[in-house]
Amino acid sequence: MERNSTDIEQAKMLKDAFKQIEPQNIEKILQEYIEIRNIYNAAIKEVRTKLEILDDEFNYRYKRNPIHSIQSRLKKPNSIISKMIKKGFADFSYSKIKEEITDIAGIRVICQYIDDIFTIYDLLSGQSDVKVVKISDYINNPKENGYRSFHMIVNIPVFFSDRTEHVNVEIQIRTIAMDYWASLEHELKYKNPDNIPPFIKAKLLECAETIAETDYKMQEIYKAVSNIENQDN
Ligand code: GTP
Ligand code: MG
Repeated sequence: MERNSTDIEQAKMLKDAFKQIEPQNIEKILQEYIEIRNIYNAAIKEVRTKLEILDDEFNYRYKRNPIHSIQSRLKKPNSIISKMIKKGFADFSYSKIKEEITDIAGIRVICQYIDDIFTIYDLLSGQSDVKVVKISDYINNPKENGYRSFHMIVNIPVFFSDRTEHVNVEIQIRTIAMDYWASLEHELKYKNPDNIPPFIKAKLLECAETIAETDYKMQEIYKAVSNIENQDN
């Protein structure tokens, strides 16, 4: 989801990182990555299923789907290593990575309306096996560049044949409109990561604000239509 450095920069970092690892430990680390992939993939499946169940329930209760779509991704090994290096760590063991990187498993939930975002958050955080580790509400507190989205890190148990792993999953919840802005902004930043001129920044911010205004208007329209329907029934 994030791409703060180019692939070539990441490859260089990875090469440097491997220089720091004792040769006898490399095989162990690679083995651990296979395990990490397995564990975090399972966690993604768990959270996806939770979201799909909530969406299905909404559909039969209220005849609508609050979730427009769900995307997920596993952080690539080179991104994990570069993030560890950026954070100043040279220990790339699973236990350290698990402690330090909370977005190995990432899920993005695209909702129709702003209210749906907070409904999903309430329902998910109310589940007894979901522990909310961190919330960043960039909807009520947008980032300086205009970015809007609701982020949460949850910790969930994943059951394996011989043990239970408690796994962090990063969930980003946003509307279709917020996602439209974030995707294009991300793309533009990637093309020119370090020097986006101030006038472009200002234009992007302006777009984010227009989009947010439209999101609130669409929410109002939805409420007005629901009220008319309720009166008719
Ligand atoms: P990271 O170390 O980048 O994961 O950031 P963080 O730990 O401070 O968390 P934060 O909640 O700020 O951001 C997590 C993720 O949200 C990023 O990896 C991006 O996918 C997304 N994100 C955050 N800020 C922006 C932004 O300004 N623009 C876009 N397009 N995406 C953003
Ligand atoms: Mg991230």
